[in-house]
Amino acid sequence: MDLDKALKGRHSVHRFKSKKPDWRDIIESIDSARFAPMAGGNYTLKFVLVNDSEKIKKIAVECQQDFVGTVHYVVVACSKFGRTINSYGKQGEVYARQQAGAAIENFLLKIQEFGLSTCWVGYFVEKNVKDILEIPEDVNVEAVFPIGFEFEKKHARESKIDLDNILYFNSYGKTKMGEAEKN
Ligand SMILES: Cc1cc2nc3c(=O)[nH]c(=O)nc-3n(C[C@H](O)[C@H](O)[C@H](O)COP(=O)(O)O)c2cc1C
Repeated sequence: MDLDKALKGRHSVHRFKSKKPDWRDIIESIDSARFAPMAGGNYTLKFVLVNDSEKIKKIAVECQQDFVGTVHYVVVACSKFGRTINSYGKQGEVYARQQAGAAIENFLLKIQEFGLSTCWVGYFVEKNVKDILEIPEDVNVEAVFPIGFEFEKKHARESKIDLDNILYFNSYGKTKMGEAEKN
């Protein structure tokens, strides 16, 4: 699958088939996160792949979202800020959050490439998710991803937001490129 197809085809899925994904595809998707840019080369991301159905049910409760509990695999993305904070002080936490997003997007695109689907679940009771997965105190939970096959395949959508709404030239709010690039 080419990058454009993966980018445009990715969408959040809340209803999955009962078919079990190949766990190797999920691990390869997690592997793609290693290639994301990381401030100072400090890799802060950790992923927990959960196939324990009891734990998956408990995680769904902590997300207060039933669909999370309907899959065979859940991936929980975590950040360990320690090294970036040591290197960059308070800004280190900002970097760790930013690079979590970059790494997660790699993961999402790879999931898409494998024909799998997920939804980025950002709402959960963090302390309780940490307890379920025995995640240490100094590690933050970034997001929860239930993984499966989409129940009913949707067609790739057109862009959700116009380019005009996100792109400015030379000054914030300026929507015209100007003379220099007329050719
Ligand atoms: C940081 C973040 C948190 C999110 N949390 C949730 C969530 O808790 N539950 C959910 O169903 N979707 C959640 N989403 C998915 C968004 O609602 C979804 O990406 C958005 O509606 C755009 O749709 P799309 O993913 O199909 O492009 C979250 C997405 C992000 C980036």
